[in-house]
Amino acid sequence: MTRLYQMMSAFNHCTPVLKFIMLLFVLVVFNGCTSSTGQQESTPIQQTDSAQVRQLFMAKCAICHGEDGKLGIANSKDLSVSQLSKDEVIAMIRYGKTTMPPQPALSDEQIESLAEYTLRLRPQ
Ligand code: HEC
Repeated sequence: MTRLYQMMSAFNHCTPVLKFIMLLFVLVVFNGCTSSTGQQESTPIQQTDSAQVRQLFMAKCAICHGEDGKLGIANSKDLSVSQLSKDEVIAMIRYGKTTMPPQPALSDEQIESLAEYTLRLRPQ
């Protein structure tokens, strides 16, 4: 009986320690989760913001097409009179054509935003 009593008291003595360890474990796991989702939120830079799209257009397209799409450098077409659909413009930006360079480094989202930007250069 004394042995059982000793074991029981040892178990009782252990329980808060085990609880503490479990709590620590849960805290560590929880912390790990929150910090990794935090990283996920901050990594991709999405080019959906209109100022960023404009910046992208100025950097990648305006050199030939001009700020308003009408410049026509290197025989580039006037974007304000273009009749292409949004999908055709997306393909145009992605793959290029004749002297217009392809844009393999841009994400699908960036290309779509640029296509929408290009369509807005047409008289509404
Ligand atoms: C080096 C000059 C150059 C750059 C930079 C350039 N383009 Fe072009 N773009 C052209 C030329 C040249 C054409 C005409 C291609 C053809 O039809 O042969 C063209 C055609 C287009 C057309 C099709 C117009 C039509 O109605 O046929 C679109 C849309 C367009 N460009 C959008 C863009 C966008 C958006 C960018 C930036 C990502 C860009 N271009 C960058 C030269 C350029």
